[in-house]
Amino acid sequence: MSTPDVDVNHNKNLKTEDLLCPLVEYEECDFSKLLEKPRLLNIERQRSLDERSLSELSIGMSPHHSARGVDLNSSRIFEQLDSVCSPVGRRSGFSTPRSQTGFDPHPMVAEAWEALRRSLVYFRGQPVGTIAALDNTEENLNYDQVFVRDFVPSALAFLMNGEPEIVRNFILKTLRLQSWEKKIDRFQLGEGVMPASFKVLHDPVRNSETLIADFGESAIGRVAPVDSGFWWIILLRAYTKSTGDTSLAELPECQKGMRLILSLCLSEGFDTFPTLLCADGCCMIDRRMGVYGYPIEIQALFFMALRCALLLLKQDDEGKEFIERIVKRLHALSYHMRSYFWLDLKQLNDIYRYKTEEYSHTAVNKFNVMPDSLPEWVFDFMPLRGGYFIGNVSPARMDFRWFCLGNCIAILSSLATPEQSTAIMDLIESRWEELVGEMPLKVCYPAMETHEWRIITGCDPKNTRWSYHNGGSWPVLLWLLTAACVKTGRPQIARRAIEIAEARLLKDHWPEYYDGKLGRYIGKQARKAQTWSIAGYLVAKMMLEDPSHLGMIAIEEDKQMKPLLRRSNSWTL
Ligand code: GLC
Repeated sequence: MSTPDVDVNHNKNLKTEDLLCPLVEYEECDFSKLLEKPRLLNIERQRSLDERSLSELSIGMSPHHSARGVDLNSSRIFEQLDSVCSPVGRRSGFSTPRSQTGFDPHPMVAEAWEALRRSLVYFRGQPVGTIAALDNTEENLNYDQVFVRDFVPSALAFLMNGEPEIVRNFILKTLRLQSWEKKIDRFQLGEGVMPASFKVLHDPVRNSETLIADFGESAIGRVAPVDSGFWWIILLRAYTKSTGDTSLAELPECQKGMRLILSLCLSEGFDTFPTLLCADGCCMIDRRMGVYGYPIEIQALFFMALRCALLLLKQDDEGKEFIERIVKRLHALSYHMRSYFWLDLKQLNDIYRYKTEEYSHTAVNKFNVMPDSLPEWVFDFMPLRGGYFIGNVSPARMDFRWFCLGNCIAILSSLATPEQSTAIMDLIESRWEELVGEMPLKVCYPAMETHEWRIITGCDPKNTRWSYHNGGSWPVLLWLLTAACVKTGRPQIARRAIEIAEARLLKDHWPEYYDGKLGRYIGKQARKAQTWSIAGYLVAKMMLEDPSHLGMIAIEEDKQMKPLLRRSNSWTL
């Protein structure tokens, strides 16, 4: 094992206050510095915060790289840097891209592009999205719709291939849907809610097309998709960053759309935490799975969307007010997440020894978590080196499960500090069999069984142990893993995972998910030709081939707010 070159500040003379703080205590992060950074209008002209950081990442990778066996040579990195700062070059039409390395691409790539194009959905002659799955052998349910979250990897694939039009159309169409009146029975939903999905209705008699959308009022369980609005903002920034076209984000309706989404999650209430309180099933895991409360997936997407909004909002009267609120929230959110959601060996040991029923400001165990609530598996799962953001933190409740999407987004958005990002990758490497196994990647780990499954899922037959959301393996997550690998300078991890996927994905007809402890079996009710499995693979391949693509979906940490680790961390053990 190589020693990570992290900047850990060991403080041997801990004071009482230090002991009362969470494991990792940070210097207050100064997000207000972000306000001084070039904003939307300057995205094209100046090397923005994230661009600069990407170049630092690439150059800084070299020593680290060789230690970790990265095989990008420096001249290639510099070539790539050129393209980071300029919009992606347009390629002709909707053709399959050629490999930029000069090597023939894997034969699956061409197949994947064809399958992705087959999934295109047109509205009045224009492509507006991709269908969730093109599988006619199963009952459709809502897999014939364009899901906002599912479209994200498709959008990234098209942007990386120099085809931004479909992404622009999608952004504008979903924005129109946002302005619909949304009701469940007699209750009206917030103005800013974005749809989970939509579809095009053809009327052969009138020869017309209309859109219908689902904001949760038709969804199983009737839950509004909290993630949709966040993905929408993230995609708007990806489009802007990749094309250099700021005009879309500058449209008054886009600015308003963003503000409406932000109003939903920045409103004041009874909250005592900066994290966002959610109902179960409000994100990728869209069924009851015990992810209510403050799920990591939503918190990480919330953070990422706030950072993207900060780059996109105009400094006009309305924008300014939101910018101030965002800065304050980012400040509190990053502190809370980095301190209380973070788990590594040291923190685990601290919780194991927690005292309970502490009252007042001096409490160490602030949320009154009972050490007896620590599940058995977590002691074996936690490697000597490594760590992760746990699933949920609320009063007397820590959900220790590992969730893939939230941890990858934490890396991409720089919610995770560089040290935490490295630790997350270390954990993935150490727990390869559990998290990757025979098909990347577990949506969460471990599965719930027997009594726990009954109580927490409400006896959900789709979410039985090691199936679907309950410890199933989802190929779509490959793009998130790859992006996280590129950002942390560990592409060899992604390469290994992609190779595993390549052995089966096409042969198995791009399943939605796999089942079993190792992900060996095609999922019980998995759709075939699942679009985000296809697009996720393409994005992973393109990103690995040209790491400069990372810029559209990653944001670097502001060096000015570099955290100060006051206590020793697990890798010193
Ligand atoms: C399932 C997934 C959800 C996805 C949808 C369409 O419901 O849980 O995340 O958006 O299928 O693919």
